[in-house]
Amino acid sequence: MARVALVTGGTRGIGEAISKKLKADGYEVAATYAGNDEKAQAFTDATGIKTYKWNAADYEASKAGIEKVEAELGPIDVVVANAGITRDAPFHKMTPEQWREVVDTNLTGVFNTIHPVWPGMRERKFGRVIVISSINGQKGQFGQVNYAATKAGDLGIVKSLAQEGARFGITANAVCPGYIGTDMVMNVPEKVREAIIGQIPVGRLGEPEEIARCVAFLAADDASFVTGSTISANGGQFVV
Ligand code: CAA
Repeated sequence: MARVALVTGGTRGIGEAISKKLKADGYEVAATYAGNDEKAQAFTDATGIKTYKWNAADYEASKAGIEKVEAELGPIDVVVANAGITRDAPFHKMTPEQWREVVDTNLTGVFNTIHPVWPGMRERKFGRVIVISSINGQKGQFGQVNYAATKAGDLGIVKSLAQEGARFGITANAVCPGYIGTDMVMNVPEKVREAIIGQIPVGRLGEPEEIARCVAFLAADDASFVTGSTISANGGQFVV
């Protein structure tokens, strides 16, 4: 039977590429989205991948959504916590609201996504937890105190879960994408973006598929001894 994979924020950007790659690799995929019904429908029409709508920042909604996915597709074997947002501003201009929104989605949202799936993985003695962090969680970024804090926190989550999950056949790993050509990066002011591209040794933005392939590796049986680790895929922009 096909393994079941849940990808939050799985209908757009990096998440879309991950959903498609996992489907191509033979997984039964559930992709979540928070708001854009039209885009989600277009995604399902194009890919045949089922979508589910809930806000990753909401624990009860995540729990109920995950129960629905498991009732329809079966127990979740692979969870990819990908949903994330930016609310960039220099710290002196950053509002408590901008701080809260980013923490609620990018950090608490990761807890909300993994926590309801975790007991089943422990019982079944198998699981793959993959969190999409960011280069900016590793190096920090001007204008992203909130985002960098959450993405660094996400690394703490996987390093801890790796230790708790090991006895139960569960691996937990992170992928830290650099700057990838998605809406999120295209929304950065052009001048700033051009300057950032100048800092990437390979001389270009990454492609969502280049991140999806990292996720597929971590999800596969091939990665059985890889846990608590971080794959950095950033074109050489930051060498850990
Ligand atoms: N380093 C040093 N100084 C910088 C700077 C930087 N990287 N960026 C801006 N500044 C300077 C500006 O030149 C300006 O200086 P002056 O006042 O002397 O002119 C000062 O900081 C403040 O600028 P502004 O008051 O104009 O700031 P703003 O309110 O317009 O906000 C910003 C600017 C929103 C932070 C903007 O610089 C920005 O969007 N930066 C990009 C942040 C970024 O990389 N976000 C990543 C999004 S993609 C993503 O997050 C995906 C991922 O995981 C990689």
